[in-house]
Amino acid sequence: MNPDIEDILISEEEIASAVNRLGEQLTTEYAGKNPLVVCILKGSVLFLSDLVRAMDCPLELDFMDLSSYGGGMESSGQVRILKDLDTDVSGRDVLIVEDIVDTGNTLSKIFNLFEQRNAASVKVVTFLNKPERRTADVKVDYVGVEIPDKFVVGYGMDFDEQYRGLPYIGILKPSVYSHLFN
Ligand code: IMP
Repeated sequence: MNPDIEDILISEEEIASAVNRLGEQLTTEYAGKNPLVVCILKGSVLFLSDLVRAMDCPLELDFMDLSSYGGGMESSGQVRILKDLDTDVSGRDVLIVEDIVDTGNTLSKIFNLFEQRNAASVKVVTFLNKPERRTADVKVDYVGVEIPDKFVVGYGMDFDEQYRGLPYIGILKPSVYSHLFN
């Protein structure tokens, strides 16, 4: 295990079983619809690549990058678009793929944007959900695993751009980030 990790919250096996379950549900949801699957960079990349392999239906991919965290552990509350989609979403069934929904600010911003751009439908799948932290009123259609209010890393998620490649979801040792609060 990585020495900066205090505990493994979700193992590789648990990740695989949650992704397979979501893949089956989304295969049913999108049968015959050719959805536009929108990956929110960068944290969702690993989840996206496993998820689309578990979805047995035609689909298209696109990517969007937004920023709400300034490199620390608390969302700034401001969401900026750093990279927009290449695809026109009007009339499309859009599936937003998120790594984690925390306050819900990021999601509510994208959701509203796609509705304004006249998507035929907008649904959300997130690998992790932290319901205790929610401040924005957003609907999450599919959830991999609900977790308590802990800052997690791995399986695409970072702290200061590190730990994205860990194959499990881990909780960081406080010694890694305590300097931020002193
Ligand atoms: P929200 O706008 O507060 O819902 O934040 C969503 C984004 O913040 C996620 O897509 C992640 O990139 C990041 N984030 C929120 N919680 C965590 C965490 O526990 N670990 C790593 N990144 C997180």
